[in-house]
Order: sequence, then C-alpha cells, then structure tokens
Amino acid sequence: MADAWPATGPGFSMRVIAWQRVHGRHDLPWQQTGDPYRIWLSEIMLQQTQVQTVIPYYTRFLERFPTLAALAGASLENVLELWSGLGYYARARNLHRCAQTLVAERAGQFSADPGETAALPGIGRSTAAAISVFAFGRRAAVLDGNVKRVLRRCFGVASGTAQNERALWALAETLLPENDIEAYTQGMMDLGATVCRRYQPACDVCPLQAACVACQQGRQAELPMPATRKALSERTSSVLLLSDGDRVFLERRPPSGLWGGLLSLPEAPGESAASFARRQGCRLLGTQVLPPMRHAFTHFRLTLQILRCDVEVTSLQAREHGCEWLPLNDVAGAALPTPIKKLLLSLGR
Ligand code: ADE
Repeated sequence: MADAWPATGPGFSMRVIAWQRVHGRHDLPWQQTGDPYRIWLSEIMLQQTQVQTVIPYYTRFLERFPTLAALAGASLENVLELWSGLGYYARARNLHRCAQTLVAERAGQFSADPGETAALPGIGRSTAAAISVFAFGRRAAVLDGNVKRVLRRCFGVASGTAQNERALWALAETLLPENDIEAYTQGMMDLGATVCRRYQPACDVCPLQAACVACQQGRQAELPMPATRKALSERTSSVLLLSDGDRVFLERRPPSGLWGGLLSLPEAPGESAASFARRQGCRLLGTQVLPPMRHAFTHFRLTLQILRCDVEVTSLQAREHGCEWLPLNDVAGAALPTPIKKLLLSLGR
C-alpha cells in the first residue's frame, strides 16, 4: 500500500485531477460544450438518473430545443413529451419555468455566480455549482450523491445529521484546487460513479486509497450508511381505458403532484363507466377488467386497476378541456407516464 498523505492538503485534489486525466470520462455529450444552457440541461437530467439513461434523452431534447430561447418559447406539453419516460417530472416543469424566468428576467443568460443560479427554479446548491464550474470555470463545490459518497468514505463522515451535512459542505469547499476546477469536479463525479461505487467499491484502483478512512478501517459498507429502507407504502388507483377502435381517451393531469402535466388515463369517477362515457360523448359497448399493473415510485408502490371500456364516439361536442383522443400509433411519442405508455403500447400490438 502507498504511504498515507494528509488528506485535507492539496494532495487530495492533485490525485483526483491526475486520475481524471487518465481514467475519467471525457466523451460524455455535455463535456463537448461550454454552453451554460446545455450544461444546465445535462445536470438537471442527471439528477437521480444514470448517465446511460440520460444520453438519448439529452440528444433528442437538444435537437428539438437547441437554445434556451427555443425551450422558453415551447409549450409545457411539448417539453413533457420529450421528458416522458425519464421520470421525476417536476424536473421538466421546473426546467421550463427556469428557461422562461431567465428569458424574462435575465436577458436569457445564466450567471457565472452559483449563488444567483441557485435562486432559479429547480436548481439547488450542488447543481448551481456544477453549472458555474463546467460553463464558467468558477471554483465552486459540487456535492451530489456520488461526490458525497467519496468524501464520506475518505474522511469517515457518517450520514444523517444536519451537522454532518454542513461539515461535508465545508470539507468540499476546503478541498477545491486553485486550478483545473473542471477536471477536479469531473474527477470527483467519475470516481464516485465508477470506482467508489456504493456496492463493491474498487478500492485497489482508487487514487485516494492511502488516505481513505473507510478503506483503512474496512468500513466501506457502513460509510455511507446504507439507506434505511422504509417499507414502501401501497397505493391503488382505478382508471378507465376508453377505446374507440384505435384511439384512446386521455386526460391531462393537474399541473402538480403525481405525473403532473402528463396525459394519462382518467381516474375512475364516482359514477358508472356508462355515465362517464356518455359525458365524453360516447356510447359504452362493453367492458373488461384488465390484469392490475404495478409500478414502483421512490416512496410508494402503485397498483393500477384498469377497466377497459370499448366505446363508440357519438358526439365530439362533449369533449372536455384537457382531454383528447390519441391514436394508438401516436402513443410512443406522447407525454405519458411510463406504466400507462407500456399498457397502451401493448394494446397497439
Ligand atoms: N452527474 C451529475 N453531473 C454529471 C456530469 N457532469 N457528468 C457525469 N455525471 C454527472
């Protein structure tokens, strides 16, 4: 094992930077630009989502909205369409709101100052710092989940208390290098993602091994504490799947809350399916109970009970605002929650 070195000195960032240059990631799509808009978009998409999942969404999103002005001028529905499947839809709603705020109040420009950026919708302290680092080369501390794990292990900081969180931010600030802030920040992210993994960290190839408290004391499994898994609560939702030939009836969900702003199947109303169908200008031809679908969210599990209703549209006047008949052929590109999209795609086959 190499000699230990003082972990809080400049040796820490020097090792991270040297490691990043050789072993880090250099060809991620958002590393090929200095455009704050593109960097911001990548950082929002990367919250709670893995790099490999993000890449195709990122590429498609930029094809459709190549500039901040294009995004600000788009409808929320169009933004949600491109986000559909990525989950955590509050991110997309805040992204849209943030673009509009920047255009209306800040001449469409991000500030280099992370404090100003952190005041924008959907941007926390760590994301603001990442934008300042990657778009403006500013010295600022990023502390996302991966970076936190590296620091907790290396310095033996347990998780949990607000005091420990503050200590971690202070530590992250003191470790920042004078130069090469981009390589250092990317290196910390890369180390967390590829070496200092939550399970089975690859300590033998880690540049911080000699100074790492967790590694020296064999406490990698305990630092950070495995998240205490609360039993997920169970929720049930009953929905109606009205279909008229190859079209299905969808309702736009309220702007906030679960699946906010997305199109979805209407929740079963406190009236008969026949009466609901009549209000949509349809005649009910027959019903069928479909097998329930299960979907896991971060904090709960949802069971969808689905009543399929074959109908015939008799009058289009009864269509309510926010509702639409979507051809099954258009399901793949629509802003639908993942389990609903899966269900409808299975009908189209
Ligand atoms: N996670 C958050 N930001 C990231 C970035 N810029 N590159 C890779 N993973 C990240």
